[in-house]
Amino acid sequence: MTTQHPPVDISPAAHYDRVTDAWALLLGDDLHYGVFDEAHEPLPSATQRLTMLMAAAAEFRSGDRFLDVGCGVGTSTRWAVRQHGLVGVGISTSAHGVTRARAKAAAAGLSESLTFEIRDGMHNEFADESFDRVWALESSHLMRDRAGLLRECGRVLRRAGRFTLCDIMLVQPVTFQLVRSLRAEFGLLSRVFGDARMETLDTYAELAAAAGLEVDLRRDLSAQVRPTFSRWRANGLAHRAEVSALIGQGSWQEFVDSCGVLEQMWDQGILGYGMLSATKN
Ligand SMILES: C[S@@+](CC[C@H](N)C(=O)[O-])C[C@H]1O[C@@H](n2cnc3c(N)ncnc32)[C@H](O)[C@@H]1O
Repeated sequence: MTTQHPPVDISPAAHYDRVTDAWALLLGDDLHYGVFDEAHEPLPSATQRLTMLMAAAAEFRSGDRFLDVGCGVGTSTRWAVRQHGLVGVGISTSAHGVTRARAKAAAAGLSESLTFEIRDGMHNEFADESFDRVWALESSHLMRDRAGLLRECGRVLRRAGRFTLCDIMLVQPVTFQLVRSLRAEFGLLSRVFGDARMETLDTYAELAAAAGLEVDLRRDLSAQVRPTFSRWRANGLAHRAEVSALIGQGSWQEFVDSCGVLEQMWDQGILGYGMLSATKN
């Protein structure tokens, strides 16, 4: 017998409109994984480390025009703009996320140097060669046309500009049989995290090369991000009532369950986490 789940729209825009406020309680201000140096490190310092690794790979220079594709509520965008003296634009398909990001930038006094817009990373409609730095921080898994995403990022970069990406990834290509045998688990992950598709780091590197981006950095961060799930689970258990009020008790339960599913897929070598950075030729 198959389990029935209440219908929820898992398309990324609707999904992020629905979960963004709950995610603040579960994931924190950064809507991304943490990179842990030590087992007992708090989640916020580990998520900040991921942002800093992205920034180091991006090689920001003061005054750079920076595009953040899939910006969430703009936490890492704000940090990068302030820390590196950038002129930033964050884009997301979630109207709710963009509203939150604008309010937070205004409260931080960054409205002059940082704007947020509702745009799709696969068709961003910015002018050719209009940015010095582009990154996609854990948003690419939500964009089905991955080649389109990479092509668009390459198109809007100036020559010698840098593109950087990190995300949840397949450790190796998966067979149809494996996907079928894990259908319930992948279904749960889609309901919790939105309609996602994962690729290998090799595939991302191939797509980057096809988009005129020369990859010069690849990192497997799978082991270092693994403690993220226990922190998410602890946040879930600590904020059960508030999260249930925002997204419903069933979605709260599925979020907590998803932490175990992700740990299992990590430990079975199915899913992992990677980063790459590239320069436009
Ligand atoms: C996991 S969150 C990461 C947010 C942010 N980068 C961070 O690290 O805090 C994924 C983000 O990608 C956005 N997103 C999903 N699909 C998108 C698309 N096609 N174009 C632009 N943004 C998208 C979501 O709305 C969400 O803001």
